[in-house]
Amino acid sequence: TQIDETSRTGYHFQPPKHWINDPNGPMYYKGLYHLFYQYNPKGAVWGNIVWAHSVSTDLIDWTALDPGIYPSKPFDINGCWSGSATLLPSGVPVMMYTGIDPDEHQVQNVAYPKNLSDPFLREWVKPDYNPIISPDGGINASAFRDPTTAWYGPDRHWRLLVGSKVGDKGLAVLYRSRDFKRWVKAHHPLHSGLTGMWECPDFFPVAVHGGSRHHRRGVDTAELRDAAVAEEVKYVLKVSLDLTRYEYYTVGSYDHATDRYTPDAGFPDNDYGLRYDYGDFYASKSFYDPAKRRRILWGWANESDTVPDDRKKGWAGIQAIPRKLWLSPRGKQLIQWPVEEIKALRAKHVNVSDKVVKSDQYFEVTGFKSVQSDVEVAFAIKDLSKAEQFNPAWLRDPQALCKKRGARVTGEVGPFGLWVLAAGDLTERTAVFFRVFKTTGSKHVVLMCNDPTNSTFESQVYRPTFAGFVNVDIAQTKTIALRTLIDHSVVESFGAGGKTCILTRVYPKKAVGDDAHLFVFNHGEVDIKVVKLDAWEMKTPKMNAPAQ
Ligand code: FRU
Repeated sequence: TQIDETSRTGYHFQPPKHWINDPNGPMYYKGLYHLFYQYNPKGAVWGNIVWAHSVSTDLIDWTALDPGIYPSKPFDINGCWSGSATLLPSGVPVMMYTGIDPDEHQVQNVAYPKNLSDPFLREWVKPDYNPIISPDGGINASAFRDPTTAWYGPDRHWRLLVGSKVGDKGLAVLYRSRDFKRWVKAHHPLHSGLTGMWECPDFFPVAVHGGSRHHRRGVDTAELRDAAVAEEVKYVLKVSLDLTRYEYYTVGSYDHATDRYTPDAGFPDNDYGLRYDYGDFYASKSFYDPAKRRRILWGWANESDTVPDDRKKGWAGIQAIPRKLWLSPRGKQLIQWPVEEIKALRAKHVNVSDKVVKSDQYFEVTGFKSVQSDVEVAFAIKDLSKAEQFNPAWLRDPQALCKKRGARVTGEVGPFGLWVLAAGDLTERTAVFFRVFKTTGSKHVVLMCNDPTNSTFESQVYRPTFAGFVNVDIAQTKTIALRTLIDHSVVESFGAGGKTCILTRVYPKKAVGDDAHLFVFNHGEVDIKVVKLDAWEMKTPKMNAPAQ
């Protein structure tokens, strides 16, 4: 196939061609970041799944290696599906993954590096005692997958979770093992919910603010053996809902002795709770990076064009920019921010400051190429008194609210924000914007939206509006920040320093290459001010060139 380069990304992770989905087994090992991912070596649609493998020293430049894990044994002959890495106390990394057996049953397997002195860990060995976990004991063999990183309990047993379902109930099934070989199912799952199949569970500790350690620091599951550390953490459980293709997380407490996880009060842990990302972001997985003592989150962003388009362009799927993730000071949500390394890609810089944007006005940010860029902007709002009244019924569904009040619907305070990947004549444009409402007791609600309705002339493309609320006290701050990573067919936005994130895939026809423009707009009645806007062209890193 001929690869169509028009909408390929520059600095977001992708292989040279073909289909990709979930990130798998991310880890840092002896100076290298490893990323494996679900990959079809034969085409641009899902199928023939192997674990493709790339390594990097800095999360920016990537070297492609041969697939690390691929079907070769009865226990994975029909596919090597998602899984996770665990670093054993001996320093040996081990992979746990889902294999599809000859009966199309989902089983859990283990694989070890063949040669620990190969820093690339190119070859993986699957012991003959696989599968180590089979779907017995009433488990649905076609809904049993995506093992987590294992953690060690005070009873000297390992634990891990496998995603599953019973009827409408999604499950994080818990297994225990003494030796990483024989695994026994616990009597109760770690957690469950009436949301359908749970794919790709992730369960990990986060540091609590106010502890002796800096709260943005990540915590390794391995550190939990240290009781002092275990006291200063909360836990995050994230699940990917197969039904809606969205991910939800809760923050809570976990009792090592009874293996009970309890979300904190105020976390609705069903299908309207908190999300890492309110856009196109799925099957994510985090890992602890000992080099910088942080937790990093990888997530897959699927295409939103059509399957024939994917076949035509010869590729489909990217990984979002890896994000550092930590618990907010009050413990009410997680905060995410692009890893600091990507600043090294910043090149030509332009800026704007103290510029008022009156009602129904807009201006272009000129002097740089925005098609592959990083934009940081702070907006100040002069007058909140006119904000539109908020209906509490909207709280459940920000996306529906954004659809009703898209970028072209005039408001009072907002919509204001950016038009990205815009044609010079604005016939194509993707809006990333805020709208502020007032609610009871002189409180405000801030909505962050992505409206791709006008992103492309191509009418077949799926163009959902995406939105989330931003938990800020706008009456106090009077400003709101936005960072947007623009990369040809991806718009990845971080509101209020990473409190609300929205990733969208768009496919402009006209606003491509040097014809992609960036504007600031205000479609509200109330003036806003760009306090400061900094924008950088982004260089193209080495993206999956084959190893020499
Ligand atoms: C999530 C998922 C996983 C599965 C993998 C197969 O996107 O469906 O549940 O392991 O993809 O490629």
